[in-house]
Amino acid sequence: MRIQGLSNTQNSNNILKNYTLCSNNFDDLLSDFIRVRKKTIELFKPLKVEDAVVQSSIFGSPPNWHLAHVTWFFQKVLEKHGIKMHNDCDSNISDGDINNNGTTSRHDPSQINLKYLNSYYQRYGNILPKSERGKFPRPTVRQTLEYRLFIERKIISFLKEKIKEYSLDKEPSSLGSLLEGLKYDMMLGNNHEMQHQELMIYDFQHYFQRFEDPSDNYIPVKALTQQEGRTGVDQPRIRQGGSREIVTELGKMVEIPGGIYELGFNGKGFCYDNELPEHKVYLQSYKIDVTPVTNGDFIRFIEDGGYRDYGYWLADGWELIKENALEAPLYWVPTKKGEYDHNISNNNYDSSTGGTKWIKKDFRGIHEINKDEPVVNVSYYEADAYARWAGKRLPTEAEWKRRQLGMMLCKEKLFILGETEGHSLNMRIC
Ligand SMILES: [Fe+2]
Repeated sequence: MRIQGLSNTQNSNNILKNYTLCSNNFDDLLSDFIRVRKKTIELFKPLKVEDAVVQSSIFGSPPNWHLAHVTWFFQKVLEKHGIKMHNDCDSNISDGDINNNGTTSRHDPSQINLKYLNSYYQRYGNILPKSERGKFPRPTVRQTLEYRLFIERKIISFLKEKIKEYSLDKEPSSLGSLLEGLKYDMMLGNNHEMQHQELMIYDFQHYFQRFEDPSDNYIPVKALTQQEGRTGVDQPRIRQGGSREIVTELGKMVEIPGGIYELGFNGKGFCYDNELPEHKVYLQSYKIDVTPVTNGDFIRFIEDGGYRDYGYWLADGWELIKENALEAPLYWVPTKKGEYDHNISNNNYDSSTGGTKWIKKDFRGIHEINKDEPVVNVSYYEADAYARWAGKRLPTEAEWKRRQLGMMLCKEKLFILGETEGHSLNMRIC
């Protein structure tokens, strides 16, 4: 997840720190790189090889493609900085530094067909349309793992060399400035790979939700090792009857005063190019919900005929609804008493909904949708239609970011950030 910064506040910098890798030296870059790469493999490990090469939707990618693509990206970083791609693996690198996965041989990338791995980069040619990624399961999974190992060794060797040069330089600032480009490229590669970790997770959910058998589920490897069971995925911390501070704010809105605000990034760490330049925006005063829309809110929209009334929908959204006969968010399945009972973990019927309940399958297995959790997996069209039904509208990007700066959910307690810092932002709960 990436949050753009609203500038000139300590608070926005703290928020950024939590969500991006902003290494300031090569030691940190090296440890960030190793940490990110290990995380990717942790996500990939529970998959069977058959699952790793399937593209379950045109908006997703095969897991094996993700693994190979992020490695291809680091190959391009190396090539940009003059590193040749021949097989001369550095014997000084310990296997403990990297994700060897039991893989021992190391292929020179020239021996592997990499032409399916370019996503959107015109400069490298041979862009394979996203919808085609599942039709070319190359490199094979084993080749991908070997390729990852090869590139990781190259990167580690290269960074270790730069760390040595940097430490020997009498005027580190001069060498440091020469290497700013490399630092940025490494931070870009790390953040790019973290983006793909997020993509992998939602691709996994799409792929595994198709199977009704609980044994066909994706279970994060850490949950297995910690609890040796399929219930190891953390349950959401905010539940019915949970935080008193949050419950008391449900349904309320906060008024945010109009004014000129700054948008974009102005820090010294990493940011993407589309977060620049920092600029001013003018916002009228507006009100925005204090808490996210819940599943219970969205069920009321559905039961009120939200998916059957064109008046709530943008024209192309309404076409999409009709074409695909949609009647609920992605993954939501309406069930009657008796259906799926053997697989549902939280089996509580709600008589207020006429015996119908909504279930879905995610990393916790098949379960009844919790009405107190924030609604997820809704499209822009669905969110927009809900807002019209509720007599409201969606916030603009600037309005949302201003709101995020002002309010945070922290340790299950809602507070207005400005007040805790002793300088009120003049927000007012309505
Ligand atoms: Fe990418």
